[in-house]
Amino acid sequence: MLLKVILCNKVSFKWFFDSINWYCMIFIKNYILKLQEKIRYYEYLYHSLGSPEISDNRYDFLIKKLHYLENKYKHLLTANSSPTQMIGSPGIIGFKKHKHITPMLSLNHVFNYSDFLNFYKNIKISLKEKKVFFCCELKIDGLALNLVYRKGILIQAMTRGDGIAGEDVTDNVRVISSIPNKLNGINIPKKLEVRGEIFMLKNDLMRLNGSVMNNCKKIFSNTRNAASGLLRQKNLNNVAMQNLMFCCYGYGYYPRYTNLFSHYDRLKQLNLWGLPISGYNSILHSSYDILCFYKKINSMRQFLNFNIDGIVIKVNSIILQNKLGCTNKAPRWAMAFKFVDQEKLSKVIGIMYCVGRTGAITPVAKINPIFISGVTIKKVSLYNFNEIKKLDLHIGDIVTIKRSGDVIPKIISVVKDYRSKNIKKIVFPHLCPVCKSILKLNTKYTKVYCTGGLKCKGRLKKLLYYFCSKNGLNIHGLGYKIISQLVDRNYIKNFFDFFNLDFDLLSSLEDIGKKTTINIINSINQSKNVILSKFLCALGIKEIGSIKSNIIAKHFLSLENLMNTTLQELVLLKGIGFSSACSLFDFINIKYNQDIIFNLSNSLNISSNHVQYNNTVKKLNPFFKKKIVISGTLNKFSRIEIKGIISQLEGRVMSDVSKNTDYIVVGKNPGYKFVKSKILKIKVILEQDFLKIIQDFL
Ligand code: IVH
Repeated sequence: MLLKVILCNKVSFKWFFDSINWYCMIFIKNYILKLQEKIRYYEYLYHSLGSPEISDNRYDFLIKKLHYLENKYKHLLTANSSPTQMIGSPGIIGFKKHKHITPMLSLNHVFNYSDFLNFYKNIKISLKEKKVFFCCELKIDGLALNLVYRKGILIQAMTRGDGIAGEDVTDNVRVISSIPNKLNGINIPKKLEVRGEIFMLKNDLMRLNGSVMNNCKKIFSNTRNAASGLLRQKNLNNVAMQNLMFCCYGYGYYPRYTNLFSHYDRLKQLNLWGLPISGYNSILHSSYDILCFYKKINSMRQFLNFNIDGIVIKVNSIILQNKLGCTNKAPRWAMAFKFVDQEKLSKVIGIMYCVGRTGAITPVAKINPIFISGVTIKKVSLYNFNEIKKLDLHIGDIVTIKRSGDVIPKIISVVKDYRSKNIKKIVFPHLCPVCKSILKLNTKYTKVYCTGGLKCKGRLKKLLYYFCSKNGLNIHGLGYKIISQLVDRNYIKNFFDFFNLDFDLLSSLEDIGKKTTINIINSINQSKNVILSKFLCALGIKEIGSIKSNIIAKHFLSLENLMNTTLQELVLLKGIGFSSACSLFDFINIKYNQDIIFNLSNSLNISSNHVQYNNTVKKLNPFFKKKIVISGTLNKFSRIEIKGIISQLEGRVMSDVSKNTDYIVVGKNPGYKFVKSKILKIKVILEQDFLKIIQDFL
């Protein structure tokens, strides 16, 4: 036990191995081999299955320990297949493999100032230069991708694989809108290898998990896993793929004749040819400036809409890069300076079960409150029952909780060493925690559902809340607390009851003032004019979120057409998928639901939102072929909706502000993007003005 404690302790493992006697050599050799095996297993879970079991910090620590031991006890080891010598992962099952034109190396990394300064000093000493310029970039937390262009046409897209050969994901990549299938501009090389990161925006992950519109019907625990899952889909879901973004940070084969000999200039050139690059790339030379860049990025990290796990510092001159060269694993001219993710320990004190709007039951762990990155965390979602099994979680367990760039906290692992005898097994309920109806497992045994239908007040409250949300009818002021009171007092049993609410009834509720009551009544009246896609989404039908509602509304144009559809017609709709088509078809063919829809359509004015408009009008709209960034919380639209509108007008929504941005549309509490747009003097459009402008074109 003592030995285990020493080996697991970050500080003492060096001391331990330095002072140990020779007769322990066999033990050490076995220990190293076991450690290699353990790391290989974690790498397999991470790269090949996209479902890591340990945190990045823990992985880095294990690799560091292995490096140290292998160096110190070289003479004990023979074979050279250690994870410290490997680049990347072994390979994704089921994709064709191809060799990269030039190997895809990895990056060395540091976690603290003194290690960074060592790297910085060594570069200057090796190069014998007084002033070396570095290109400092964000280290986006996604998956590396290699794109091969021949005569400007994308012919191959590959994951990194083992660094020598990667998996061919060309078909999937072709539908990602930020990756051009054809480069534009002058001097396009005959052959070009472009490298960058595939990633997903944080709010797209939340939406994707919320609507479970991904083909795998899987909840993704973070943006990296989600990006990896979508990129590897066998049955391509074009709509879901639109959630993937690409940012170019480098190149493999890049012809010399372009006469560009700085990394920064080459990236700029790639950008001119149509590849997206980061607007944060900065050329710096002093270690002080680089440290300031690191600190600045670290402090604004939580405001970014995508996850980053550090910065990357690269010698900018290609000539100097060549002088420094590479090891077989990583270049000597680059270094990742990683952020230390906030991880904390806490105790699981109980499990509660929440009923969602579709009736799905989600287990949530109640924990002793902890404070991570500015927020107090008391509850952590466990997604589904398999997660409990996977973690081998018990009530009373001490767990590691992480809240990295992701806003959502997550239980990473159970600290088994701290497990006491008083832990309690988590017993899955058989009855709904709210209405006591029987629970039913779905066909894939991943989710448990309440069978109480809308008689379950837990489900009803969530469904009504969704109906009023931005994805639905966008009724202001009707938050969860008010809806909960309305349901508990039996004032509302169904959607259409909202339209019978009056001033007296609303103002009789707790914590609601006169002004709020008036605002709610006004907002309910305004919501009566609704477009078909919003109406459909508001119904909260399983697997029919706002993207699919849009596709369906665009196809059917009227509620009547939709109600008369066949399953075959729904299945054939591009971007819907079989299971979602069945879910919608079943819903609209249940008499009870038909009555709800009929009653609602009597209270509401449902119009088609997809009126065809001609090409001239299309081109006259100010967003035609423009690059637009959105910042802040919008009042009238969800992010997906505004993206949908802009793309209907043939504009492009970009994730971040750069010099090339044409407009920034700003809602409430805009963040860093807005500040940046001010610096770059980008034209600002307030949400209310955006609304006015688009009215003429939709
Ligand atoms: S440069 C030879 N730059 O980080 C240099 N990598 O941990 C290769 N990454 O495999 C990489 N942002 O997938 C570079 N600005 C950036 C990056 C970046 C994210 C990823 C990349 C790489 C991994 C290494």
